[in-house]
Amino acid sequence: MSIVITGATGQLGRLVVDSLLARGTAASDIVATGRNTAALSTLAERGVRVAEMDYNRPESITAVLSAGDTVLLISASEVGQRLEQHANVITAAKLAGVARIVYTSAPKATTSTLILAPEHKATEEFLVASGVPFTILRNGWYTENYLGEIDKARDTGVIVASVADGRVASASRRDYAEAAAVVLVEEGHEGKIYELSGDVAWSFDDLAATIAGIIARDVSYQRLSPREHAAMLGSFGLDESTVNFVVALDGDIRDGLLAETSGDLSRLIGRPTTPLAEGLAA
Ligand SMILES: NC(=O)c1ccc[n+]([C@@H]2O[C@H](COP(=O)([O-])OP(=O)(O)OC[C@H]3O[C@@H](n4cnc5c(N)ncnc54)[C@H](OP(=O)(O)O)[C@@H]3O)[C@@H](O)[C@H]2O)c1
Repeated sequence: MSIVITGATGQLGRLVVDSLLARGTAASDIVATGRNTAALSTLAERGVRVAEMDYNRPESITAVLSAGDTVLLISASEVGQRLEQHANVITAAKLAGVARIVYTSAPKATTSTLILAPEHKATEEFLVASGVPFTILRNGWYTENYLGEIDKARDTGVIVASVADGRVASASRRDYAEAAAVVLVEEGHEGKIYELSGDVAWSFDDLAATIAGIIARDVSYQRLSPREHAAMLGSFGLDESTVNFVVALDGDIRDGLLAETSGDLSRLIGRPTTPLAEGLAA
């Protein structure tokens, strides 16, 4: 009976492996999976077992899962293909007789109008209907999503967005990874749905001030209308669907869809979430 981590070759998955090891899980009890063989080799150097797994190849999933395993299904990254990919893992897990699937979802996935919610909603529904015991981690925004703003602000002294006064309760990937490790190894999380986010919902004025502190220059937040934002992104050569996605996401932030601070994340990890300044500086 192992703890199987999908997406272990990615940024969140690697941190989950670190958190499990730090919490005392034996390396030999962890199976780290992904497609990237070079990244799998690096994980193997830590003593954990590794296996190739491709969400698009059900036989590669079946080959890894065994009865009694606990599986962390880290959501896939190809938007539009994710339900089928997640369903492949859930179906293989059911056939194998795994003990539980822990799935990384999105905030209020089943009711939110967040542009990214539909695939997570469909996955949650597929998971619940499968009858496999589950825990759902509705991960909020990563602080690391804003690292790119530091370089832009260094060059221009501004951050631009069309979020108006919207706020983001982000947390560091490490915080979400620790929460995943906790629910994987502790008892009592079966059937639970957690709304994970940072303790503080910051505004883009706060983001500008925080980045100013990091790069030691004045930085301001330039508010754009959605139309101005789309025009600016288009002028950078972004294709129309990417422009629409970015502007829609800013609309979601404007509507407060990433601002909820439930406290679930800090409760699970037993400490406050990483503050914005610390998360960006790290
Ligand atoms: N909350 C947020 O702010 C936020 C932001 C971005 C993404 N996300 C979601 O959170 C997930 C984890 O984030 P991250 O930062 O760790 O992303 P990441 O570094 O891009 O890692 C994605 C992981 O998914 C694996 N993967 C993708 N497609 C796969 C497939 N077909 N078969 C098997 N494995 C596959 C990758 O494996 P290989 O590299 O080995 O192919 C990699 O291990 C993302 O995939 C996405 O769903 C959340």
